[in-house]
Amino acid sequence: MPATAIHVGLMSGTSMDGIDAVAVTFAEEGVRLLRTHQHPWPSELRERLQLAASRHPLTAADLAELDSAAGEVLAEAALVVLDGLKGEVRAIGSHGQTLAHRPGGRPPSTLQIGNPAIIAERTGITTVADFRRRDLAAGGQGAPLVPAFHEALFRTTDRYRVVLNIGGIANITRLPNNPGEPVTGFDTGPGNCLMDAWIRQQTGQTMDENGRFAARGEIRPALLERLLADDYFRQPSPKSTGTDHFLLDWLNARLPAEPIAAADVQATLLELTARSIAAAIDHRTEQVLVCGGGVHNPLLMQRLDELLPCPVVSTAMAGLDPDWVEAAAFAWLARQTLAGQAGNLPAVTGATGPRILGAIYPA
Ligand SMILES: Nc1ncnc2c1ncn2[C@@H]1O[C@H](COP(=O)(O)OP(=O)(O)O)[C@@H](O)[C@H]1O
Ligand SMILES: [Mg+2]
Repeated sequence: MPATAIHVGLMSGTSMDGIDAVAVTFAEEGVRLLRTHQHPWPSELRERLQLAASRHPLTAADLAELDSAAGEVLAEAALVVLDGLKGEVRAIGSHGQTLAHRPGGRPPSTLQIGNPAIIAERTGITTVADFRRRDLAAGGQGAPLVPAFHEALFRTTDRYRVVLNIGGIANITRLPNNPGEPVTGFDTGPGNCLMDAWIRQQTGQTMDENGRFAARGEIRPALLERLLADDYFRQPSPKSTGTDHFLLDWLNARLPAEPIAAADVQATLLELTARSIAAAIDHRTEQVLVCGGGVHNPLLMQRLDELLPCPVVSTAMAGLDPDWVEAAAFAWLARQTLAGQAGNLPAVTGATGPRILGAIYPA
């Protein structure tokens, strides 16, 4: 493969704030972002996807239709970044939209939709998708899958780094500076998902922009304690979770009978995210590199900085814009698959071994 081969990555996380699409090249010196684009979900489709992801019953026919509809929008997102690109585009890596993720279920299951056949057909480019299920079949959590990419990009022998991705769910990757130590990582719990769900219910806004609403409230210690008492935070890793666990219903079941000011709940949810992340970060850590939408919430970043003894900075400081790390990771995972290389890290997911991930839909 020529060093300049371009790969496209498509990612839509649990926040469903849009599809992140990138065209990138990988070289010794790092990832080059040639194109970036955030593609909106049509609002009606987004609502249907959100309903489907929140344990709402749906028929097989509904699911099949959602899969195709999502595939068309993912293909559109890919076409935007492909438009006018010069050079060979080797593959598209598409994460798909997660509708369910129950690695601890019997049997374990996870579902990402957005028909990859449609993406391959509309773009004429080999598409790799459905990355999580092979790891799950091998006894893993199927998540997080970004740590292998974080390792390739951000691991150094100079200092112990942790990469923190604050999407709907938050996940960390521990990158020991000692090359003999394995990379580990897991989902720490809610990232933005509960903060988004609460403000949406209270005010109709899709997010608490810059943490302004939370800043008007006060942290309620009793509520915070009840939220932190969830078993997930105590479970040993490997572990992964989803917005089908950390739902508004989960929060409602823990709110006290007497009413609390909405801003106080918002402040407490932000503190929950910060504390559950901080608790997962090893004391040996010398630098935390943050990516994902949460990096844009100054109040959340401030709380992390206060709770952690080491510097907390954006991945931009290490060469990659925090908004595009996840999409670039799926471009990289597609490249791994086509090269016959594993994409999972068994020490992270708990799979019985490294696996070549995904299914290939030829051009
Ligand atoms: N300026 C901001 N202030 C507060 N929160 C923000 C801001 N920008 C983005 N976010 C949060 O980031 C989320 C999107 O993060 P993202 O990494 O795209 O998540 P996902 O991977 O789940 O799609 C939004 O839903 C919002 O909660
Ligand atoms: Mg997103």
